[in-house]
Amino acid sequence: MLEDIDRILLREPDIQARIEELAFQIARDYHAKDLTIVALLNGSVFFLADLLRRIALPVHFTCLRVSSYEGDQSTGEVRFAQEATDIAINAAGRHLLILDDILDTGCTLQAVRARFSDQPGALSLKTCVLLKKSGTRTCPVEADYWGFEIENAFVVGYGLDYRDRYRNLPFIGILKQSAISS
Ligand code: XMP
Repeated sequence: MLEDIDRILLREPDIQARIEELAFQIARDYHAKDLTIVALLNGSVFFLADLLRRIALPVHFTCLRVSSYEGDQSTGEVRFAQEATDIAINAAGRHLLILDDILDTGCTLQAVRARFSDQPGALSLKTCVLLKKSGTRTCPVEADYWGFEIENAFVVGYGLDYRDRYRNLPFIGILKQSAISS
């Protein structure tokens, strides 16, 4: 697996240190509020586990399966699983924080925001991503919380995949072009 990595962008200790800061910021902002984190699967699974354990508040969390990527390319179409409807229905009276691994074109976060904004009852709706790529937005959306701004390259590791592989790398790195099949 390691031989397919061109360059490491973010090492495990740096990822964990930044997550600690994000958790502190979120705990401060949501103090005494009923916070529900909605994590987008599968990419945000490690981020969710590490962030949640550091937020010193009694948070709820739930997961939502959303997909828009095929291989290393965005299809531009955001597909939701059935849970999206259930979560939206149960959002009444809650502060929602959508969690994703990476903000790239922005179309996923925009579609998820729109999905929940349509539903009455949520007290607030914010977004948090571990990574955001610079100069790649085709949908005009930004995250309220973010960990690192990175260059426009296809990255894997720490939950991020290429054709469902490399998610279990403990760091975030750029995949070699030779590992990407056309
Ligand atoms: P958009 O383009 O909608 O992207 O902002 C959000 C989703 O696309 C996936 N994505 C990536 N996955 N390496 C990956 O493994 C990448 O560099 C990358 N860029 C986007 C990811 O699933 C994210 O939730």
